[in-house]
Amino acid sequence: MLNAKKIIYGITGSIAAAKAPIIARELVRTGAEVHCALTNSAQKFTTPYSLSILTGNEAITEIFPSSGKGTWHVHLGRSAHAMLIAPCSAATLGKLRRGIYDNPVLLLASSLGDNAQLIIAPAMDEEMWQQPAVQENIEWLRNKGVKFIEPVKGNLASGLVGMGRMPEADDVVKQFQQLLVTADTQNPQPETRPLPLAGKHILITGGPTYEPIDPVRFIGNRSSGKMGAALAKEAAEIFGADVTLIMGPSSEKTPSSVNRINVETADEMRDEVLSQLSGHDILIMSAAVSDFRASDPEKEKIKKTHKKKWSLDLSPTRDILKDVMSNKKAKQKIIGFALEGGEGAIKYAKGKLDSKGLDMIILNRFDEMDAGFSTDTNRITIFTKEGLQKEVPLVTKTECARIILSLIAEME
Ligand code: CTP
Repeated sequence: MLNAKKIIYGITGSIAAAKAPIIARELVRTGAEVHCALTNSAQKFTTPYSLSILTGNEAITEIFPSSGKGTWHVHLGRSAHAMLIAPCSAATLGKLRRGIYDNPVLLLASSLGDNAQLIIAPAMDEEMWQQPAVQENIEWLRNKGVKFIEPVKGNLASGLVGMGRMPEADDVVKQFQQLLVTADTQNPQPETRPLPLAGKHILITGGPTYEPIDPVRFIGNRSSGKMGAALAKEAAEIFGADVTLIMGPSSEKTPSSVNRINVETADEMRDEVLSQLSGHDILIMSAAVSDFRASDPEKEKIKKTHKKKWSLDLSPTRDILKDVMSNKKAKQKIIGFALEGGEGAIKYAKGKLDSKGLDMIILNRFDEMDAGFSTDTNRITIFTKEGLQKEVPLVTKTECARIILSLIAEME
């Protein structure tokens, strides 16, 4: 019934958060695309990891310091069909009423589009449930159009029996679906606000390249393709762009909404980029392209018995970005990555922004444990030709992708 609908599922601190994985699983079973967000207190009762596995989408646990237009929660909030908060604590009800959006659940609730329905399942002890402040907050939210899954009488965390218990997981999902049907009938207008990169065609490169030495050996690098895959997925799914991904050898998966072209060598990547370029508004070169290739790869496997000592003759590959620059149209935006380490990293990245004539460059460091190749996290600095320098603290590559794409969406 929720087929392909994007649902945000918020979980706050209550013993009932232990039911969250079952609720998430049942929501997924209805066909919905489910994105979970958890407060810090919720994580004492359930883990983001299990929710990520059950939904196939990384659970959100942090607000990263990116304020103003174009931040991730706006894109996710606006593109959602509805949001469920279950369990919802008394504190969250109070904050929702007072507009205090200081955790990912509240932030997403504040970012929903006009037609997205917010549905809340409160859970707390009976004394708290009966507090006039709690009841007033619920009434106020109800008047603003929020719908409620009422708590039931039963065993409470305190050991007492009383009012305030969240219904069982399958009942929560059933009521959520029923309330949504009513909301959709009362408000049949689809969300019309366009996604930030809707209508834009984005070409992204990712992964390493492999340059053959003979039929079994190659020169490669440690790039995993995670950053390119995250950029492609987020650009298509959250930002609404038409995405073509030219991917070097990588085991990273990409959603079917991304048009993926697999390549192996720097030359193959260059040919694909140049043939695709004219149909795209934006190019993001996140691939770690090999700078050298074997000048004369052997046709047959090189046998160790044939060579006692062996030196390999290398020739430079062509710089794809350089070729792009001489082929691009004035309006096309070109974004590069700079892989640097050591003290001169910033200087080199800025140098590449200028010398390659890019609109934006993302500095990626290879000399940090938790950033760069193969890790799921990254610590980047973004430079634009207008002089912006934005430091992004250690976040997941998905979050990096969202920050980069938000800045691209704001470029004109
Ligand atoms: N790049 C490219 N073609 C190449 C090599 C790199 O288009 N043959 C692109 C990368 O995709 C990246 C940017 O150029 O967007 C910078 O890549 P990087 O490896 O950091 O720098 P290089 O230009 O290769 O210079 P160096 O290796 O000397 O630092």
